[in-house]
Amino acid sequence: MTLVRLATNPSVERAGIGAIPTPICYGHRGARGHAPENTLLSFALAFDLGADGIECDAQLSADGRLLIIHDGTVNRTTNGRGLVHDLSFDALRQLDAGGGQRIPTLDETLALVGERGGLLNLEMKGENDAEALAVAEAVAARLAALPDDDPLRRDILASSFSLPAVAEIKRRLPWLRVGALFGGRAWTRQQMIERALALGAEAIHPHPRILTAETVRAAHEAGLRVNVWTANRWATIRQLIAWEVDGVFSDFPERVVIARRLGQTRDRQTGR
Ligand code: G3P
Ligand code: MG
Repeated sequence: MTLVRLATNPSVERAGIGAIPTPICYGHRGARGHAPENTLLSFALAFDLGADGIECDAQLSADGRLLIIHDGTVNRTTNGRGLVHDLSFDALRQLDAGGGQRIPTLDETLALVGERGGLLNLEMKGENDAEALAVAEAVAARLAALPDDDPLRRDILASSFSLPAVAEIKRRLPWLRVGALFGGRAWTRQQMIERALALGAEAIHPHPRILTAETVRAAHEAGLRVNVWTANRWATIRQLIAWEVDGVFSDFPERVVIARRLGQTRDRQTGR
């Protein structure tokens, strides 16, 4: 069975996640291909489908409470209208996020991940750096309250497109594992690696369209892991596995689990 290769990466070693088969499968916004995104139902289903962890998006309500929702407005994913940061916690919690589900709180999400013993990639959202920084501060305050021996301290990986937000949460919580998200084509391989290393990140999180096999190799040589969002097509997932990426985010987590298992069975058959 192929195991995480970067056992020498100190944060990974400390985290003890080296025993999980690679690539680690993160259900994107839960199991978004099957259930309303970023809901407790979607998170539970992702784990039921075999995901090792889930990815979700954190934002602040108008009154400073942390909730899990992707867009800057509630318009697409709920029966309400308006900007998330203009609505109170109570108003947001009354909305239907699909199938009768509520917008989850960060606390509810932490509880579910803890119960399942899974991994959590917590993405800190914001329309700009200032908003993402505010989310990072609030997340840091919440995670600082985790007991020293809580496995969530090891199992959470925080990330953001806002690299200042990643820097800020790492400054506040040096023990927290962090990843740097990259989406645009403007990022070169060297820029992604240099920025991630400067942030003390354990991983780069690139979109497949800006990823090559060479980038995966270079990141590994630099001691960085590579977690890729969002791969839904079988061909893309198979390619990422062949490139030996460390994590894959998918709306269909079972596809990553099946493709990964197929590769392991083939390896066993060919004696690799
Ligand atoms: O964290 C990976 C991925 O979720 C980033 O993009 O827009 O789906 O939050 P988005
Ligand atoms: Mg996200």
